[in-house]
Formats: sequence, structure tokens, C-alpha cells
Amino acid sequence: MAETQGDGVPPDTGGVYAGPRAIDPVSEANHDDDPNYVTRTKFLSGVAVAGGAVLTGAILVPLVGFAVTDSVKGEDDVWVDIGPLSDFPDGQTTSLAISQPAGLPERRVFLRRKDGVLMGIWNRCAHLGCPVNYSAGGDTYVCPCHGGAYDSVGRVTAGPPPRPLDRFDVKLTKGGKPGEIAGTWDPTGAPKDAHVLVGKAFSIDPEQRPYRIHGPGEEVEGILKYLYPF
Ligand code: FES
Repeated sequence: MAETQGDGVPPDTGGVYAGPRAIDPVSEANHDDDPNYVTRTKFLSGVAVAGGAVLTGAILVPLVGFAVTDSVKGEDDVWVDIGPLSDFPDGQTTSLAISQPAGLPERRVFLRRKDGVLMGIWNRCAHLGCPVNYSAGGDTYVCPCHGGAYDSVGRVTAGPPPRPLDRFDVKLTKGGKPGEIAGTWDPTGAPKDAHVLVGKAFSIDPEQRPYRIHGPGEEVEGILKYLYPF
């Protein structure tokens, strides 16, 4: 109990308050030199960095996966014999239907034989899939739906298509037997009774580099290809 003077008044301490304090301040320990001490700021920073790493991984892993596999994925190898090479004279582009495995609609291919090269071009427009027409006069392809136009080997020259016309693998047989594949699509020097085989479809970029088959409207290059169909 505080001492009082005889009249009940606390003794005079010279103006300095000497009574009890409402709160006794507790001095905080200084952890600046403790490498193992984790402050709240450090903890929240760690959580933010870890969360960012997880999000980055969630975005990058699929992108890298698509980039690595984009040029190797594709359809199964199925070869269809479309007739003897002699049915496709040099300098001519021939339109014909290719039958597909049961349940799948047939496809139409423009088989182009020019300057010693056999090339199978799909008639499906790369914009929204309308069938394109071949113009023998200009040696070009035109889409009747939205004005898409392609050059002699299917590269876009006008309109909205995001990539060239798709292609089909083409091979020749060694002779008249479809099972004997010569492993080449150059008809120069091929046996007279060689047959033409048309295989799986694939997409190309403007430099005619092959990619897995893409759907109508889908790009094969550029960042937008990763966002398709969103
Ligand atoms: Fe061919 Fe649109 S579907 S240009």
C-alpha cells in the first residue's frame, strides 16, 4: 500500500508519477540474428512464392507437353489403295473419295502429280471445314463458304483459314500388289504397275512442315494453338 501523509495524500515525489501502470510494456525479443526464426512476413512470402510456382507449373507443363508431342501425334497408319499410278498422269490433279474404317465418313483427296512429286491434299477447308473446289485453270483451291483461297499446294492466299490445307501420306507399291510398299512418294522410276496408296492425314504450316492432324479453325503455330478451342 502507498504511504500517505497524515491527511491521506500520497507523498510528494517531485512531480514524477510513481503509481501502477495500466499496461506494463513487454519488450520484444530481437530475432534479427536468428536464421531459423520465421516472421509472419517471411511465412506469407513463402506461401506466395510456393503458390506462384504451383500455378506456373500447372500452366507450363501442358504447354510443354503439347509442344513436344505436337508434331508426333496423329492418326493410325491405314493405307488405302486408290489405283495404279498410270491412272494419275503427270501434270494432273485428280479428285477422288477415300473410304474410311467403318462408321467414319469418307474423305475426298486431291491427288496432285506434278514435276515428279505425288501429293495428297484434303479438300476440307482449314477454316470451318467446307469442301474446297479445285480450279484447274489457276491451279488453286477456293472455298465457297467464306472466300478462303489456297495456292497449288494448299497454302493460304486469301480469306480466314488459319493454316494450309491438310495433307495425306502418299506411297507407291513396288509393283501391282498393294502390300509391297516402296516407301517413297516420288513416282520417278516407279514400276509401271505400281499402285498409289493414301494414308493418314496430317496438317502443315506455311513452310509445309508436318504436324499432327488439326481440326478446322485450329492453328498449327503461334500461341493461339495452345488455347484452341477456347
Ligand atoms: Fe472455308 Fe470458311 S469454311 S473459308
